Amino acid sequence: MADKPPMKIRDDIPEGVSFFDEVIICKKSDEEKAFSAKCTHLGCIINREIDGEPVCPCHGSRFDINGEPVRGPARKRLKQLELKKQNGSIIIKV
Ligand code: FES
Repeated sequence: MADKPPMKIRDDIPEGVSFFDEVIICKKSDEEKAFSAKCTHLGCIINREIDGEPVCPCHGSRFDINGEPVRGPARKRLKQLELKKQNGSIIIKV
C-alpha cells in the first residue's frame, strides 16, 4: 500500500492549537509541532481545544502542546509527525 502524500498548509497559522483534518499543529513562539489528531485512548479524532490544549470529544482526554496527556483516560502521548517548512508552507508527513 502506498504512503499517504504529505499534507501541505500555509505557514501563517496563529499561535496555539490548530486542527487540520487528522493533524493538530501546536505553535508556540514561532515553533510548530505536528501531531496525529487520533486520540491515544480509543482513536477518536481530537478536534477542539480548551485553554490552548487539545481535548478529545469522546471521553475528554486532554493533552499539552507537546502531545503529553495531562488528563485521562488516555495515557500515551499523541504521535508526533514529521514537519518541515518550505517556501511559506508547512509540510507534514502523515
Ligand atoms: Fe479520546 Fe477516549 S477516544 S478520550
